[in-house]
Amino acid sequence: MYGKMLDEILEYVRRHHEYRSRCLNLIASENVTSPQVRRVLSSDLGHRYAIGFLYTRIYRGCRFIDSIEELTGYLARTLFKVDHVNYIPISGTVANLIMFNALTSPGDSVAALSVLDGGHSSFRECSRVRGVAMTPLPLDQKEYNIDVGEAEKLIRRVRPKIVLLGASDILFPHPVKELRSVVDEYGGILAYDAAHVLGLIAGGVFQDPLREGAEVVTGSTHKTFFGPQGGIILCRRRYSTAIDHSAWQMVNNHHIHRVAGLAITLCEFLAFGNEYARQVVKNAKALAENLYDKGLKPLCPDKGFTESHQVILDIGDGGGVEASLKLEAANIIANPMPLPWDQGEEKCSGLRLGVQEVTRLGMSEGDMEFIAERIAAVLLGKESVEEARSKVSEFMENYQMIHYCFDNAEAYGFPG
Ligand SMILES: Cc1ncc(COP(=O)(O)O)c(C=O)c1O
Repeated sequence: MYGKMLDEILEYVRRHHEYRSRCLNLIASENVTSPQVRRVLSSDLGHRYAIGFLYTRIYRGCRFIDSIEELTGYLARTLFKVDHVNYIPISGTVANLIMFNALTSPGDSVAALSVLDGGHSSFRECSRVRGVAMTPLPLDQKEYNIDVGEAEKLIRRVRPKIVLLGASDILFPHPVKELRSVVDEYGGILAYDAAHVLGLIAGGVFQDPLREGAEVVTGSTHKTFFGPQGGIILCRRRYSTAIDHSAWQMVNNHHIHRVAGLAITLCEFLAFGNEYARQVVKNAKALAENLYDKGLKPLCPDKGFTESHQVILDIGDGGGVEASLKLEAANIIANPMPLPWDQGEEKCSGLRLGVQEVTRLGMSEGDMEFIAERIAAVLLGKESVEEARSKVSEFMENYQMIHYCFDNAEAYGFPG
């Protein structure tokens, strides 16, 4: 009986692969890994522990793991031009938890964007777990960015231990440079959550928070940064011991196959990152412009819509969930999101679109016109979902290979 169930599970995975190969994935927090990354993800490394620090492990059998991790650290420090890297977090949420645990004490406060204003739930949840108070940073709704003047007032009043910039819904660079001096006035820490934009930072487009004055950067390694699912922390040397000890306390088992996959992705970014990131931003702008021309409402038309991988559509009056379901029926995958003027996080009048995965499949500006045309046709009722689905499936036949890596291979193939 269980053998049959096993076959059933494998069949679902095979069908998932086949289904997703026919879908346009516009989820802004996902991507696809290269064949070399996939190879190490299924290697023996995934069965092992490497408890302890580099070259001073408590567990034995780690000689090659030490070599892999030494290279990972070197590659990450080289790519991000940073004093210290910690690749132990197994997700972006865990990276934030490690940072909160390392750099705050219960009773402190932290300032960051609320979920309604584009912040991530981990800002709130890490604060809760650590016993620190989270003060929401003010958002300028029109600019879809942090309001610098109001933020300065708030920071002077509250003196948060950490001022955390960065967000889940992020169209434009955040004011790192602008807020550096106000945090310095009382000796706070300016940090930046780059979960979404890590690949754009690595590619040298968007912004460079470390050069602009952030002392700690947390992130996910699988969104615009197209590595295995995981987290990372980049920091100035003075925080390295606190971060490393916190990571060791909070994670214990850091999934070494993921670290090897991260090392390979770092090589890919050093070789192809700039080309990829530039195309991501061009594609996002092209998608937004085409959606606007076709009658939809991407945010911030006066600001050129976006400088990141994201486009945020205002669907209006809580319509984001229904819009995402319609698009899903047409094989276009995207997620609803609340807009700052929604009454509560559940209302979701917005739809967030990300172009990083389709860029990795080799798409460019011309392809964004096709995508915008299908989205507009479905949402404005000019095309049935069946008609759109069949056009999307046919279109996707041209985009099955992974680009910006050393050895092109199928993006959605399932081995075996
Ligand atoms: C700004 C931000 N921080 C942290 C996270 C959490 O990352 P992960 O999903 O890797 O835990 C996310 C996830 O989307 C995010 O958007």
